[in-house]
Amino acid sequence: MSNLPKISIIGAGNVGASAAYRVLELNLADVVLLDIVEGLPQGKSLDLSQMVAVSGSSSRIMGTNDYEDTKESDVVIVTSGLARKPGMSRDDLITTNTKIIKEVIEKVVQNSPNSILIIVTNPLDAMTYVAHKVSGFSKQKVMGMAGILDASRFKAFLAMELKVAASEIDTLVLGGHGDDMVPLKNFTSVSGTPIVELVNNKKLDEIIQRTRDGGAEIVKLLKTGSAFYAPGVCAVEMAETILKDQKKLLPCCTFVDGEYGIKNQFLGLPVILSSKGVEEIVEIELSESEQNDLRVSASHVKELCDLIDSSGLI
Ligand code: LAC
Repeated sequence: MSNLPKISIIGAGNVGASAAYRVLELNLADVVLLDIVEGLPQGKSLDLSQMVAVSGSSSRIMGTNDYEDTKESDVVIVTSGLARKPGMSRDDLITTNTKIIKEVIEKVVQNSPNSILIIVTNPLDAMTYVAHKVSGFSKQKVMGMAGILDASRFKAFLAMELKVAASEIDTLVLGGHGDDMVPLKNFTSVSGTPIVELVNNKKLDEIIQRTRDGGAEIVKLLKTGSAFYAPGVCAVEMAETILKDQKKLLPCCTFVDGEYGIKNQFLGLPVILSSKGVEEIVEIELSESEQNDLRVSASHVKELCDLIDSSGLI
């Protein structure tokens, strides 16, 4: 391993491997790719180390089944768990993935008590809650990746409609990572031009609905799993912001303690990420209907978390 920071990625499926690829591409950190399936992380890591022999990177990667190898990670990205099959909602994964996340987090915390945790497993907001509760870490150090992904979908669909570069579009998608997420059209612009000036309301509503269904659209096409390239890159966007102390404002799943009138639960909100983790939640002024939509989404997440609490699983 080198002198770079250390990122452990738990789960060497498609999301985990895509995240590893991105970390290497950015020269961001050394990577430990861990999975319970023997051979899988070792095989993918060998492949990736051969990739960088051509593409070049100062980051190193190793694959392992042993949590000891994750010792003293700076950031841990958790992708373990089942993905959706066609027709399933993210919520259908709750029991299985709660058990998996509990086990993973206990081992991660034993080996990296000072790490920052980025959760990717679905149902996202509820699994971030599980990780926070099981880890005992402060609220700054446990967060979930979803808003950046949902925003990336909104940007991509708008870019297709407007035939502009998706990277020139700015937007925010708040709320839980589910059917009732809250894309904010009034905080969406193309190089500073408000989106409402560029796309008519009917089309914009269609694009917002496609964004909400964006994960399911891919699940339906793939038939055997869910999206992975964008989720992998979005998780690494958070890790990079943290490791480089960039203080970017990003929509992330975070512990909410009164902001937006919501208390004592996890939810996707605009936050500033720094080397400390979630530095602060930024309160922007929402319209009444956006604020209502956010409350509906929050209460849905809360229901899932209450279900986990009453299940005795954690
Ligand atoms: C998605 C899954 C990963 O939105 O939640 O694609």
